[in-house]
Amino acid sequence: MKRIFSGMQPTNRLTLGNYLGALKNWVKMQDEADTQCIYCVVDLHAITVSQDTAGIKTATREVAAAYIAAGVDPKKSIIFAQSAVTAHSQLGWILGCMTPLGWLNRMTQFKDKAGKDKEKASLGLYGYPALMAADILLYQTTHVPVGDDQKQHVELTRDIATSFNIHIAKKDFFTIPEPVIMGDATRVMSLRDGTAKMSKSAESDMSRINLTDDADLIVQKIKKAKTDAGVVPSNEGEYEGRPEAKNLITIYAALADTSKEKVMGEYGGQQFSAFKNALSDLCVDKLSPMTTRMRELMADVGEIDRILADSADKAAAIAEPVMSDVMDVMGFWKRP
Ligand code: TYM
Repeated sequence: MKRIFSGMQPTNRLTLGNYLGALKNWVKMQDEADTQCIYCVVDLHAITVSQDTAGIKTATREVAAAYIAAGVDPKKSIIFAQSAVTAHSQLGWILGCMTPLGWLNRMTQFKDKAGKDKEKASLGLYGYPALMAADILLYQTTHVPVGDDQKQHVELTRDIATSFNIHIAKKDFFTIPEPVIMGDATRVMSLRDGTAKMSKSAESDMSRINLTDDADLIVQKIKKAKTDAGVVPSNEGEYEGRPEAKNLITIYAALADTSKEKVMGEYGGQQFSAFKNALSDLCVDKLSPMTTRMRELMADVGEIDRILADSADKAAAIAEPVMSDVMDVMGFWKRP
């Protein structure tokens, strides 16, 4: 049986990058045969950068609402908040104790997020990948669907699991998970700079499309998206060295579930203004049903809370026996 685990941080609003790079693929995976999907809202990871104690619960519900609005079905998949299953923190600590600094120092996300003043970054931000490894390994996960930027963390998880199996458990204790980077939109770029990732934490809101943006705002953001002086490329060779053009084509193809070649076949040689109109229509068409459903779910959080509670029980039922076995392997004293 395949077991899928993935998660998103409840920091700011989810973007089109989160949707195309991960969420859209999660929805597809829940219909595969012999597959159990577990989708987590990683609130413990969210506090590695700032501690928004007033807003985090709403942000957690909003991310859960986005999962459901995008098509994750709570009857098929587990949707829960990371902090509600305490084994994540427990295993995160244990794995942190066996993750060498040398491995953590290779992580590019820490370098990006810590910025210039590393002295101000928290221990939590540095140890973030060990907690992510705990998330994945607690469920004996076989596959982890993520965008390109998280691949390095899943590879580190494989190293941590292998090392635990060899040196601590001395048997195949943890399943070694595979990263799954699906589709063409594995790295959606900023609308203002085709060389930077579209990110929910970037300063300019015009750089991203949020899953909560209304139609007018989406149209405005795409209209203002940076392009170059040329026309829409007609083939791959023509978009090399033109990151903004490549990004818009990639977004269009992913939203329309088609290939970049087909998109360029249709729009190649046209002015960007015409292509942007078509892209805006497509984007509004795909996102507005999701935005409406998210709003409905957020208007009465009772349903979301019921789903999160029910799913947390299901998640704990899988994670707790694994955690109990970890305690035995570690030689820890357990409450009888
Ligand atoms: P996060 O919250 O930054 O992003 C959630 C998912 O969205 C993908 N993504 C993108 N994909 C394509 N283009 C983009 N511009 C883009 N921006 C974000 C990310 O790759 C990710 O798949 N550490 C993780 C959360 C996490 C996790 C886990 C994931 C914690 N524990 C266990 C998998 C398994 C993170 O911060 O994702």
